[in-house]
Amino acid sequence: MHVSGREVILGVGGGIAAYKSCDLLRRLLDKGFHVTVVPTPSSLNFVGKATWEALSGRAVTTEVFEQVNEVRHISLAKSSDYIIIAPATADLLARIAMGRADDLLTNVFLASNSPKMIVPAMHPQMWKNEATVANVATLRARGITVLDPDTGALTSGDVGQGRFPETQRILSEFESITSKGRDYLGKRVLVTAGGTREPIDPVRYIGNNSSGKQGYAIAQNALNRGGEVTLISANSALADIEGVRMIKVSTAAQMHAAVLQEFPLCDVLVMSAAVADAKPTHQGESKIKKSELTSIALTENEDILKSVSEIKKHQIVIAFAAETSHDEAQAREKLSSKGADILYLNDVSQGDIFNSETTYGEIFISGAPSHKVSKTTKDTLGEELLNQALIQLG
Ligand code: CTP
Repeated sequence: MHVSGREVILGVGGGIAAYKSCDLLRRLLDKGFHVTVVPTPSSLNFVGKATWEALSGRAVTTEVFEQVNEVRHISLAKSSDYIIIAPATADLLARIAMGRADDLLTNVFLASNSPKMIVPAMHPQMWKNEATVANVATLRARGITVLDPDTGALTSGDVGQGRFPETQRILSEFESITSKGRDYLGKRVLVTAGGTREPIDPVRYIGNNSSGKQGYAIAQNALNRGGEVTLISANSALADIEGVRMIKVSTAAQMHAAVLQEFPLCDVLVMSAAVADAKPTHQGESKIKKSELTSIALTENEDILKSVSEIKKHQIVIAFAAETSHDEAQAREKLSSKGADILYLNDVSQGDIFNSETTYGEIFISGAPSHKVSKTTKDTLGEELLNQALIQLG
């Protein structure tokens, strides 16, 4: 299983410190990372494939010409969130700095744009050599984190800088990489998405055009930023997001119940679902004959946001208003009547927002000036709304 934000490739170079990487692997697994080990062929002289497979619980390959049908270097590069190379020998540093791709690890490294960390370990003379110094400088200039080795006794009996660092130091350096851009760590985000359906009879319903794309984009963004995310989804055809707790509902009443249950546990609520304002007063138990289907009596649904505002404590609430005109006064009025902190107003009259990848509109913030959002992706809007929520959470 691949869990978003937790996939690590552990590259192992051909140095004696390779055995110390077994401990690093164990600790990464303890911390909830999912690790695929990619050893260089020469590193197998120190620690064999079987050890890595047993410890990681995953298949291990070293060459591009193994499992060619999977295009493994590209699939690994795409599915990983971080790459750690530990230990990296002088030769491996040189190959990476040159952009060589002569084994699986260097191929994956080249093909990936994930954050990368390298933990060199070698004899002090090799570490101090001008060529190695230049290679390390090149890699750092490319934004790759290269740890300085520890100083102490080496396998050769010499003393100097070249030792593989303690696992704890590697982990804390890695943590500073993984927490970068993860400003939602420890925050619980509740998102609603899709459109509710109100049954008329067993085959018909009152529904709307919401695809769920905006809510799913927000949930994904919050997850990427380290948030603990619950997504209450109504009738969306989109695939579940791995790492997000999914709650499936259909009617407004079901969504109301689910939101009320989850709301006290969250820090931010994003009500991006299109909730039906009313439902048929009577639901036919069997299919209503067309001769009898001349009018449908409606009963108003509970307003979820209003119910939430009655139990709201520290939470930040984001509302959406899909209108067929752009009326700022009306948007402000909706923001306060719904007891929300932020409202995103979008004009759906042109038919280019529902089910589209893009959106445009205006963000209204309680007690602050509004700002316009020109045509952008639903993901970027989600990011912007979550930025605002974070500012208000304090
Ligand atoms: N909403 C809700 N409960 C409802 C209906 C809507 O919580 N029963 C939420 C939506 O998820 C959205 C916001 O309220 O975040 C605004 O929805 P909208 O339909 O524009 O608001 P209404 O109160 O229905 O106002 P209008 O009369 O303009 O349709």
